[in-house]
Amino acid sequence: MAKNDLILRALRREPVERTPVWLMRQAGRYLPEYRQTRAVAGSFMDLCRNDELACEVTMQPLARYELDAAILFSDILTIPDAMGLGLQFVEGEGPCFDRPVDTPAAIDALGVPDPEDELGYVMNAVRTISSTLDGRVPLIGFAGSPWTLAVYMVEGRATREFRKVKLLMNAEPEATARLLDTLARSVAVYLEAQIRAGAEIAMIFDTWGGVLGHRDYEKFSLKWMQQIVSHLKKSSPDVPVILFTKGGGQWLSEMADTGCDGLGIDWTTSLRDARVATKDRVALQGNLDPAVLHAPADRIDAEVKRVIEEFGEGPGHIFNLGHGIQTLTDPERVGLMVDAVRKYSART
Ligand code: CP3
Repeated sequence: MAKNDLILRALRREPVERTPVWLMRQAGRYLPEYRQTRAVAGSFMDLCRNDELACEVTMQPLARYELDAAILFSDILTIPDAMGLGLQFVEGEGPCFDRPVDTPAAIDALGVPDPEDELGYVMNAVRTISSTLDGRVPLIGFAGSPWTLAVYMVEGRATREFRKVKLLMNAEPEATARLLDTLARSVAVYLEAQIRAGAEIAMIFDTWGGVLGHRDYEKFSLKWMQQIVSHLKKSSPDVPVILFTKGGGQWLSEMADTGCDGLGIDWTTSLRDARVATKDRVALQGNLDPAVLHAPADRIDAEVKRVIEEFGEGPGHIFNLGHGIQTLTDPERVGLMVDAVRKYSART
């Protein structure tokens, strides 16, 4: 049992002394100590592949701030990389694949990577981090949603229009379903293995679910996340699962129906409305606009207070940003935010 189990209790919607807090992308380039370790590793993927260094950067934000969870240092694109697509991070351009998957034949050639083999470096990182944490705070394992992984795999690089992946979806719906099924099976065994290695919470990042049309979301994103949640609820029924669809405010009730334990909420949806939509069936995680961290101290304080008040009374809130922390964020402002969460959420 973890010594600080606030986030686990909040995910069960049990009462807590104060609102637990962590940040999406809490280990990353906004921290000078991260940039230093990354330089030692050579590249971002070298950092992910080195369990000692991945552990070091996972622990960096915990040394600076009183956070209530650690998140595995890795990336959602480890699965397509393990499928042989040739992942590259190009400076200033973001992730790229040498061999995008854009035909039915390429889709049918994909296999499910073995989490302890091709992805064994991720499991080593989980084991090293878990033993270093030694129960101090729970460790969050994660993966990308099948739809979000498919976007990167089909487009091959960052996109604003989603032309190729939406063409595939509309012209080859059956091949698209086979791709999403292979990805769902890959993510399910990958998260199961992370849990076996020591992850105590599983989170699925559906960064691009919000670009789908209303009817397409259910068919191309939610259905496959549902398949993963069902798998995990059988393989590890006591491990909470958090789903996060960026831009998914209109589908919260359907997302809660998957049987997940928590939903990540971005800053475009009010936590009050999210509670009404989900009828308090799940915990809610969020949702400070990450851009607020560039504002003066009094604005950060006021916005933290507003977010906490917007969730209102009762259990089931985990404070977080509404999306990942931005690279140009001043680390001192993050400290102000974490302190404000403690100040405004303490229940005596
Ligand atoms: O602290 C943490 O949250 C842990 C690790 C983490 C990373 N990526 C590390 C990382 C997590 C949870 C992710 C998830 C991730 N990766 C998502 C989903 C969440 C989201 O932000 O929507 C997505 C879409 C990716 C894909 C990805 N990886 C992108 C778009 C980038 C940025 C590329 C760039 O150059 O801006 C990455 C690289 C990446 N992943 C970095 C980190 C710390 C930056 C790497 C570096 O240059 O050091």
